[in-house]
Amino acid sequence: MRVVITGGAGFIGSHLASACLEKGMEVSIIDNLSTGSMDNIRYLQNDPRLQKRLSVTIDTILNPLTMAELIGSADMVFHLAAAVGVRYILENPLESIKTNIQGTEMVLNLCSRFNKKVLIASSSEVYGKHLHAPLVETDNIIYGPSTKSRWSYAASKLMDEFTALAYHSTKGLQVVITRLFNTVGPRQTGAYGMVIPRFVEQALKDLPVTVYGDGTQTRTFTFVDDVVRALIELMKHEKAVGEIFNVGGTKEISIQDLACKIIEKTNSKSAIEKIPYEKAFKKDFEDMQRRVPSVDKLKSFIGFEPKTDLEIILSEIIDNMKACLLT
Ligand SMILES: NC(=O)c1ccc[n+]([C@@H]2O[C@H](COP(=O)([O-])OP(=O)(O)OC[C@H]3O[C@@H](n4cnc5c(N)ncnc54)[C@H](O)[C@@H]3O)[C@@H](O)[C@H]2O)c1
Repeated sequence: MRVVITGGAGFIGSHLASACLEKGMEVSIIDNLSTGSMDNIRYLQNDPRLQKRLSVTIDTILNPLTMAELIGSADMVFHLAAAVGVRYILENPLESIKTNIQGTEMVLNLCSRFNKKVLIASSSEVYGKHLHAPLVETDNIIYGPSTKSRWSYAASKLMDEFTALAYHSTKGLQVVITRLFNTVGPRQTGAYGMVIPRFVEQALKDLPVTVYGDGTQTRTFTFVDDVVRALIELMKHEKAVGEIFNVGGTKEISIQDLACKIIEKTNSKSAIEKIPYEKAFKKDFEDMQRRVPSVDKLKSFIGFEPKTDLEIILSEIIDNMKACLLT
């Protein structure tokens, strides 16, 4: 079995590559290293057990020739490459839209042409500004205006879902859509706006832990190994084709409480500093107050339960970040 992982040098992609290799699959990664890094996959390339079954192409998913060659010779595709992270999207709005819309259309078109099954990594962001919980896959969607470019990520991921479903219904493409909620774990970088790695790095350096807004906004966090397990299981499940699944944890925590927990677990001298959204991002920035998934559908298809508790997740991330800061 040969799988293509777009965005395989990224955070989730590198963990997925590792899991697929451990299962005996051949893995082809394509990544342009915009937010990913060779450091994320170096240990796989250096492992004598795994390296023979791993190939890495540094290129953009927008290159049709490279993509045709990779997808044509694969059995299935995990499409994870995307412009990701609130800060990255705000700073690179046009490139982000091109990658997320044209890039995904390219992947879907080639998977359709070569008749390959594909998983699309969508996002909880597609739900927009809901306050209720839990969010169910069939919920309506509420966005802010197009003048607020933060919604372009949500809208682009939603367009990916529409396109994937259209390829499924009109061309019979085997596609599985996953809406990932905040996924966390070792190797995730805080550089593009991801909250846990940012807080952990600040706390380990005894710098102010910067909470955007008033800190009452809540999130759930899922360990990357749990997410990867769900993605692989969904691709094995015949009835998952043409379906959309929330993939995430269900324990809600406020960002203020998360900051306190991280300061405590790192024995940090850091204080919490609240930064208004308009200072942290652009004027008129809008955040989502709450984002909690219903995972009933996922549970009913593959028996998914997130196994890893937030305490353990944080310990793993703190240990990993300590090791990185020492090297
Ligand atoms: N981490 C999360 O909490 C989360 C939540 C919701 C959805 N997702 C989705 O999961 C996927 C993986 O996210 P991640 O957290 O690992 O982020 P990441 O930034 O680590 O991974 C994305 C990868 O895609 C690559 N990439 C970007 N543009 C590319 C292009 N044009 N060509 C080739 N490669 C390109 C990047 O270099 C990076 O390695 C993304 O599709 C993201 O939207 C992630």
